[in-house]
Amino acid sequence: MSPTSDTADVLVIGGGVIGLVTAWRAAQRGLATAVVDPEPGGGAAQVAAGMLAAVSEVHHGEQPLLALSLASARRYPDFAAELTDLTGHGLGYRRCGTLAIALDADDRADLRELHALQRQSGLEAEWLSGRECRRLEPMLAPGVRGGLRIDGDHQIDPRRLSQALVTACELAGVVFHRSWAERLSVVRERAAGVVLRDGATVSAGQVVLAAGSLSGRLAGVPDGVLPPVRPVKGQVLRLSVPERYAPFLSRTVRAVVRGSHVYLVPREDGELVVGATSEELGWDTTVTAGGVYELLRDAHELLPGISELPLTETRAGLRPGSPDNAPLLGPTELAGLSLATGHYRNGVLLTPVTGDAMAHVLTTGELPEEARPFTPRRFDAAALVEQPA
Ligand code: GLY
Repeated sequence: MSPTSDTADVLVIGGGVIGLVTAWRAAQRGLATAVVDPEPGGGAAQVAAGMLAAVSEVHHGEQPLLALSLASARRYPDFAAELTDLTGHGLGYRRCGTLAIALDADDRADLRELHALQRQSGLEAEWLSGRECRRLEPMLAPGVRGGLRIDGDHQIDPRRLSQALVTACELAGVVFHRSWAERLSVVRERAAGVVLRDGATVSAGQVVLAAGSLSGRLAGVPDGVLPPVRPVKGQVLRLSVPERYAPFLSRTVRAVVRGSHVYLVPREDGELVVGATSEELGWDTTVTAGGVYELLRDAHELLPGISELPLTETRAGLRPGSPDNAPLLGPTELAGLSLATGHYRNGVLLTPVTGDAMAHVLTTGELPEEARPFTPRRFDAAALVEQPA
């Protein structure tokens, strides 16, 4: 017997936060939408800490990404309220701010440079002495040399966000195919749907590839159209803060310790997330003794009291890295196929703006102004040749 077929206006491959928000926004605009994923609501967001760090993670040469990140951060309060009102799920959205810490003279020089870039970019961050940092966060190590207070960088719980997005999709009528997408189906040079692992097909007028780090290896996508996305491993720890130590931290604290980034994100429910390694190891998701050791060692230098806290979870996930650390959004050279992938370190932060941009793409065929710099076409061979040296 041949497997059954299904049809949709829009088919989203990938049910992580990016695929889900795309599907939800498309369904809200009246498009019959389906998602293919063996486990919707899984993906990198199950590991992510959920920092909304547009200002703390600003980098030289990434001005377009900064603009998109700020646009998304601004949307978060309304986005979170809308999702919670619709689904009844709290998202753990916490407007707690961030403190970036320097532990030695080198860190302090780095942080001063970051502060200069933030000011040049019109971003708000206040330089604090070590004493002022410890006044804000008394658990910090006595040796802290200074820090940056960034009141605009908040947090959300990505696991709760994923769950709320699954529910929002269900309420909006999105159909879930809980299966692997085996290959893209292309008919007369147009993306026409997917073939699932059991051989069934789902056909659609438009297909969105939003499969995170797996987006670069879907069979059937023509070579020149496959997104240049690679997995970048991150190991993350979860601890819990017993009542007697609460509040261990009142805001996100981060630092660069001997060149590695460490951050600690305190949730309202007492969970403390410590992240993250950044490793180019292909598809490996092993939690290693070395990874856990490095994170705990660096976190302990910042906050010696951490050694008293129960360690509740260790996990590794794969960020979808792109060649310029920015997402790939919108139509590709293959008619009917759009991308929403390559969000690298910013998938959770960029969820609201990606949903809006992709809904615009799916209803008008074009990216909205704010998302145009992120067209996948920027990596086409011709566009790369045109780049200045
Ligand atoms: N945005 C933090 C990380 O990817 O580790």
